[in-house]
Amino acid sequence: MPSATVSGVMKAIRSFASDNNAGIHPDVLKAISAANRGHVVGYGDDAYTDAAVRKFKEHFGPDIEVFIVFNGTAANCLSLKALTDSYHAVICAEAAHIYTDECGAPEKFTGCKLIPLPASDGKLTVEAVRDAYHGIGDQHHVQPRVVSVTQATEMGTVYKPREVRDLARFAHEHNMFLHMDGARIANAAVSLGLTLREATRDLGVDVLSFGGTKNGAMGAEAVVFFDRRLGRDFLYRRKQGMQLASKMRFISAQFEALLSNHLWRENAEHANQMAALLEQAVRKIPRVKIVHEVEANGVFVQIPRQAIAKLQKRYFFYVWNEEQSVVRWMCSFDTTEDDVKQFAKFVAETV
Ligand SMILES: Cc1ncc(COP(=O)(O)O)c(C=O)c1O
Repeated sequence: MPSATVSGVMKAIRSFASDNNAGIHPDVLKAISAANRGHVVGYGDDAYTDAAVRKFKEHFGPDIEVFIVFNGTAANCLSLKALTDSYHAVICAEAAHIYTDECGAPEKFTGCKLIPLPASDGKLTVEAVRDAYHGIGDQHHVQPRVVSVTQATEMGTVYKPREVRDLARFAHEHNMFLHMDGARIANAAVSLGLTLREATRDLGVDVLSFGGTKNGAMGAEAVVFFDRRLGRDFLYRRKQGMQLASKMRFISAQFEALLSNHLWRENAEHANQMAALLEQAVRKIPRVKIVHEVEANGVFVQIPRQAIAKLQKRYFFYVWNEEQSVVRWMCSFDTTEDDVKQFAKFVAETV
């Protein structure tokens, strides 16, 4: 992320690199500050964590189990660990964060093989999963046990409710679980016009990695079990996985803020709207090609190779596919219309 210092003070810059590059939403920061009073018991045995758990239950139903962790990689790894033995396999899209961006942590923590399937728009299909589902009962083969989907996907697309439901049905009919990497579940739910529950549990998801960080929090993620039995030993897994926060109140307070007064929804809605605006603006530029449907807060475009470095001099962002000259531009809860207009103008001038 480019940063400019003015008299030693960091100047505020907003890039389109990642929703992780945004700061903390002011209401979340206020909640952290409000929790910063006196001493409370550590490790989650506190009123802030009770309140956060109550909020999760308001959204997802009273019979869930929820565990707070610090980051999304851990939410994924520990979720998968709770569902598998080391001879199992996890089926996912080839672009899945668990497969491409977690440094093999899911394999390390679960001992399982990940089976990546081609998915040009980031979405698994039942047909693809069916093809990969074989070797059942054969002692020489890993046994598929989990189908993992990312919602919204790494390509900025969003599974339709029917697509998730069909994958869940297939998984359950074949003695598998459906895990959802919901690092951007808020963006997806908003995009679909659904509540958090309707976008997950009601579609048959068994375990959700719930993302708070990209939605305006600071290192706040959670694992939500819709069948409590699956989360039975998770207290111990989380501790062994080094994800039990001693000062948990400060993470819990963030969730209470995000899950109250529709803040999660407003933040996601805004980020999605800014991505739609960016898409409209850059779509008109010759030699800029939108490569995936813009359904959440990311815009994937193919641009002339020589323009990338020039654009990156002013705005840092990631190259998604070097060979195809595809880059990823992400919007956040704090992206402004002005940011979008200025960036689109710069793209038009540069490209
Ligand atoms: C799809 C997806 N899953 C999970 C994560 C969580 O990653 P981290 O461990 O950096 O919080 C990310 C972050 O970029 C992501 O994009």
